[in-house]
Amino acid sequence: MPLDKYQRQIDYLRVSLTDACNLRCVYCMPEHMAFRRPAELLTDAELVRLISLFGRLGFKKIRFTGGEPTLRRGLIELVRHTTKQAGIRQVGLTTNGLLLDQLAQPLAEAGLTTVNVSLDTLDPTRFRELTRWGNVRDVLEGLSAATAAGLRVKLNAVPIRGVNDTAAAVALAELTLKNDWQVRFIEMMPFANNADFQTGQIVRETELRAHLETAFGALEPLHDGKLDGEARMFRIPGAPGSIGFISPVSTPFCAACNRVRLTADGRLRLCLLRDDEGDVREQLRRGATDEELETLLRSAIQRKPWGHDLASDLIPASRGMSEIGG
Ligand code: 5AD
Ligand code: SF4
Repeated sequence: MPLDKYQRQIDYLRVSLTDACNLRCVYCMPEHMAFRRPAELLTDAELVRLISLFGRLGFKKIRFTGGEPTLRRGLIELVRHTTKQAGIRQVGLTTNGLLLDQLAQPLAEAGLTTVNVSLDTLDPTRFRELTRWGNVRDVLEGLSAATAAGLRVKLNAVPIRGVNDTAAAVALAELTLKNDWQVRFIEMMPFANNADFQTGQIVRETELRAHLETAFGALEPLHDGKLDGEARMFRIPGAPGSIGFISPVSTPFCAACNRVRLTADGRLRLCLLRDDEGDVREQLRRGATDEELETLLRSAIQRKPWGHDLASDLIPASRGMSEIGG
């Protein structure tokens, strides 16, 4: 399994299938967003080849993201291929849930077991404002379809000051009283295209947790307070579901980082919050052999930076979140 130069085991690949999205969440992209031309994106065949190579390198977990990965027509086949790869033990999908109503069942049949759905508020008006035109009912129908298809559900919410950080956050946390879901609150991270908004409106874990504890009483820590992946997990006492906090800004988890990201246009992004990348697409398209590609991937992973430096205001400049895939 590949080690980086800090001896971290890197065995988790996040694959952005497209930078395009059918929503325009205000913290993620401007309303009039230009997306990449199809020729710039890796093809399904290129993705299949690369995923096999990552499996051979010792990667154990693959997650498809976007933009919005369900916009990609070959998604089901990609999931089917990936779940069959030797070495790959876990395949995930992060989606806004709009199209899950139709896709949950075929995805489950293709071998997907868990789905992470982004949902920042249950309030229809707020949801529309936040996503610029989305209908929260579509997401809720997607969640029902996911549950009916036997997929485990995790919800991701990004709290934004003055928008969904009080009543909306309580309502999302309340879902764990009725459903065996993980509801995870992610601190908003700054990216070049929207950094002023993101830094200005961030709600940090301590503040949000205090607010939730005012509503529900003390939250019960799970896993001895240790991180589960990148989330610190809690439960409202007696609830079937759990509440997580993913706090890259206030509590960086770079020391335990185990991941790299493949952007939709075929760059290996070594850290979400740093601009260092390796160009895989160019090598693929100039006819590199599997051995050459493996060498390229290994040496890029070696170069993985230690971590982000948001504390010194170092903000990624080359791409926004929707192009990297979270
Ligand atoms: N900071 C934190 N999370 C973000 N997401 C999108 N932009 C940001 C940001 N700037 C979240 C989405 C989705 C996941 C892929 O990343 O809400 O849940
Ligand atoms: Fe689309 Fe996700 Fe960005 Fe919202 S946060 S615009 S759903 S990619």
